[in-house]
Amino acid sequence: MCGIVGVTGVENALPYLLRGLEKLEYRGYDSAGVYLANPDGTDFLVKEKGRVSALVAEAQAQGVYGTAGIAHTRWATHGNVSVENAHPQASSDHRFHLVHNGVIENYQELQEQYLAGVTFASQTDTEVAVQLVDKFAKEEELSTRDAFAKMISLLDGNSAYGFLLMDSQEPDTLYVAKKKSPLLIGVSDHGNAVTSDAAAMLDMTANFIELMDGDIALVKPNSVEIFGADGQAVVREPFHLDIDPAQTDKGAYPYYMLKEIDEQAVVARTLAGHYFNDEGEIVGIGCAIGDTIKQADRLYIIAAGTSYHAGLVGKRYFENWANIPTEVHIASEFAYDQPLLSEHPFFIFLSQSGETADSREVLDNIKRQGFPTLTIANVMNSTLTREADFALPVLAGPEIAVASTKAYTAQIIVQAILAYSLGEVELDLKQELAKVAVEIQAITDEKATFQAIAESALKDQHSAFYIGRGLDAAVALEAALKLKEISYIQTEGFAAGELKHGTISLIEEGTPVFALLTQAKTAGLIRGEVAQVAARGANTITISSKSLARPDDAYVLPEVDELLMPLLAVIPAQLIAYYATLARGLDVDRPRNLAKSVTVQ
Ligand code: AGP
Repeated sequence: MCGIVGVTGVENALPYLLRGLEKLEYRGYDSAGVYLANPDGTDFLVKEKGRVSALVAEAQAQGVYGTAGIAHTRWATHGNVSVENAHPQASSDHRFHLVHNGVIENYQELQEQYLAGVTFASQTDTEVAVQLVDKFAKEEELSTRDAFAKMISLLDGNSAYGFLLMDSQEPDTLYVAKKKSPLLIGVSDHGNAVTSDAAAMLDMTANFIELMDGDIALVKPNSVEIFGADGQAVVREPFHLDIDPAQTDKGAYPYYMLKEIDEQAVVARTLAGHYFNDEGEIVGIGCAIGDTIKQADRLYIIAAGTSYHAGLVGKRYFENWANIPTEVHIASEFAYDQPLLSEHPFFIFLSQSGETADSREVLDNIKRQGFPTLTIANVMNSTLTREADFALPVLAGPEIAVASTKAYTAQIIVQAILAYSLGEVELDLKQELAKVAVEIQAITDEKATFQAIAESALKDQHSAFYIGRGLDAAVALEAALKLKEISYIQTEGFAAGELKHGTISLIEEGTPVFALLTQAKTAGLIRGEVAQVAARGANTITISSKSLARPDDAYVLPEVDELLMPLLAVIPAQLIAYYATLARGLDVDRPRNLAKSVTVQ
């Protein structure tokens, strides 16, 4: 999962490309590169290891420029992190340059079959693709478009690609192809662009064309030609993206994660305002969704990472409020190990990005089986929203930090509202969500408390635990993921009752154990588990709700309906992860080895 951009028909494409890469860094940030071309035949290739800022410095130092260009920020899949393996990859004679987001499954076979005599400069699957284009253009005297299309026709069916190719003999043309990887064409009256994510090109245009799987396009300064998988010309209508570019700026915040944690109260209010009318009736969910779900005998929630954790909480609402048996599955497992399904299943996909490859694989499988599907996502106009039968927005706004925060609470709220719309529930959910928003604000205002907890409990620690029961166990999984993915502290989230069946052997003097305690039914049991680990030297930090609190608890949460307590209990965990990472001098928004949108399986 990389970020790719291309621009043609401007005075100097470099600034657009570099700003675009900075906006796409959430997709991968281990190395980056740019290729620029000019009508007079001059062209430049610059690649650097590390963050986009290193490429910016080198490109500016070299004074490169171009009226058209392509650029890439990488999350390594094939070949280690190096300048050679950074993109753009070039053909041996440097006529063709290619950037790629995705994976070519059969690149080694193609290399052996077609490119035996070719000397390779990198270990990447992408270089095989550009060398093939070069071979077909030269040896078979194919046009660049035909050589490009022939290369694509040889790729294995499971391959995922977003390709941007440039031919130095056509310095103003971008050759574009897409399958399974997100790719948009940005159209404007002052040049055209191609990008993995619209947000990266908002300073050039807000009008975008969504490419479909199998499309090939030729993008020139004043024209865009698109050909479908059958090679026939197709017309794709542009859509206008109504997004304020400032939303993607972090403003005065040191990190996007802190800004996004702070935005959760507003997001909760926005969702209540979108899905309820003034009378408290639900308006934002089409009848067709409700009617289709009511015909189902079982719900299957499919997701990955933090979205999967949101599904574990959502399950409780569908079962308690809508009285529908609900299963929650990890997408990457479900994709290749589908359990026996009920007779009338209904599938809910949860995703921040709407592009997670594991979830897309399941959606493709389920559509082939003809079952109804709904995607609840933050990025609308994404593959998972476009290809599902129904889609519901979580309206969290752009989420840039790799560690997902506001999308998690927003996904939980939308599941709650959907379940509420399907059942007869005593609770006044709109009113309760208004309380949730106030309390989230109150908790996020206590940053200093969580900074102190993080710095005292996690200083010099290499491992930690979050424990809970029921809904708290579901939040403990998310809390652990937040801490480990950005601070690199090995953290496990745990159903507390399981501790004594093995894992408690890991507890030693000073081991930090965070206990979440918001569910009355199991409060006593958790207190017991806290005592058990404390007896073995653990440093216990209890986060409890008001009615269940004890004087020595580290933090007491304000109270809302017990089923909605996950929306409050996760906030301290998000902030503790943030401050623990800050205390280690690590990049909170760009943790190593990760990317925001995981578009490869
Ligand atoms: C969470 O902080 C991570 N970024 C990751 O686990 C993420 O939740 C997962 O990759 C799923 O992404 P999605 O919600 O965009 O599908």
